[in-house]
Amino acid sequence: MEEIASFSKSDAKEEFVDVDLTQISLRPIVLSDLDDLMLWTSDEKVAKYCTWEPYTNKEYGINFIQNIASKSLWFRAICLQDRAIGCIDFRSCSGRCLEKSAELGYALSSKYWGKGIATLVVKQVIEVAFKEFSYLERLESRVDVENVASQRVLEKAGFQREGILRKYLFIKGKCRDVVMFSVLSNDFQV
Ligand SMILES: CC(C)(COP(=O)(O)OP(=O)(O)OC[C@H]1O[C@@H](n2cnc3c(N)ncnc32)[C@H](O)[C@@H]1OP(=O)(O)O)[C@@H](O)C(=O)NCCC(=O)NCCS
Repeated sequence: MEEIASFSKSDAKEEFVDVDLTQISLRPIVLSDLDDLMLWTSDEKVAKYCTWEPYTNKEYGINFIQNIASKSLWFRAICLQDRAIGCIDFRSCSGRCLEKSAELGYALSSKYWGKGIATLVVKQVIEVAFKEFSYLERLESRVDVENVASQRVLEKAGFQREGILRKYLFIKGKCRDVVMFSVLSNDFQV
C-alpha cells in the first residue's frame, strides 16, 4: 500500500518518452515482432501482476506469437509507429454463460506507462468486441488488487468494478485476491 500511496506519474517513466497517441495502432502480431516483444515480455515490472513469468529466451516469444496469441478470440499488438510495444486481447470465458462473455487482457512496455495508451486501446477494444462479436454480452477483466494502474485503466474506459474475488488467481507463487470488472453490451449501447 505504501508503494501505491507514494506513486507519482513520473514513477512510471524511467526516461521521458513523448508519445503522440495518433501514432498508436492495433494490428495482428507477426514473427518479425519478436525482438520488440522480448523487450517487454522479459520485464519483471510488466509481468509482476500477470500469471506468466518474464520471458527468459526467444523460444517463449516465438511460442507466444505462434500458439498463445491465436487462442484468443481476438488478439492485437499495440503498436507505436508500427513497433509492437504491447498487446491486447480477449478470449472466451469457456464453460460460462454460453460463450457470451469474454475476458480482456493487456500489457504494455513499462517505457510507455502513464501516457494514456492502455486507456485509449481498451476503449477501442470494447467497441470491437461488441460490434464485431455481436453475440457477446459481457466483457470482463480480473485484476490483482494491488495493480492500481490496471484498475484505473478499466474504470477510465467505462468498466464497472463488481467486487473482489478472494484468493482467485495464482500469480507469482501465491493465490491472489483480484478485482472483477465488467462492461456489458447494454452499457455500451448508450
Ligand atoms: C496496466 C497498464 C496496461 C496501464 O497502461 P498505461 O498505458 O500506463 O495506462 P494509462 O496511462 O492509460 O492509465 C494509467 C492510470 O493509472 C494511474 N496509475 C498508474 N500507476 C498507479 C499507481 N501505482 N497508483 C495509482 N495510480 C496509478 C495513472 O496515473 C493513470 O491514471 P490517470 O490518467 O487518472 O492519472 C500497464 O501498467 C501495464 O502494462 N502493466 C503491466 C501488465 C498488466 O498489469 N496488465 C494488466 C493485467 S490485468
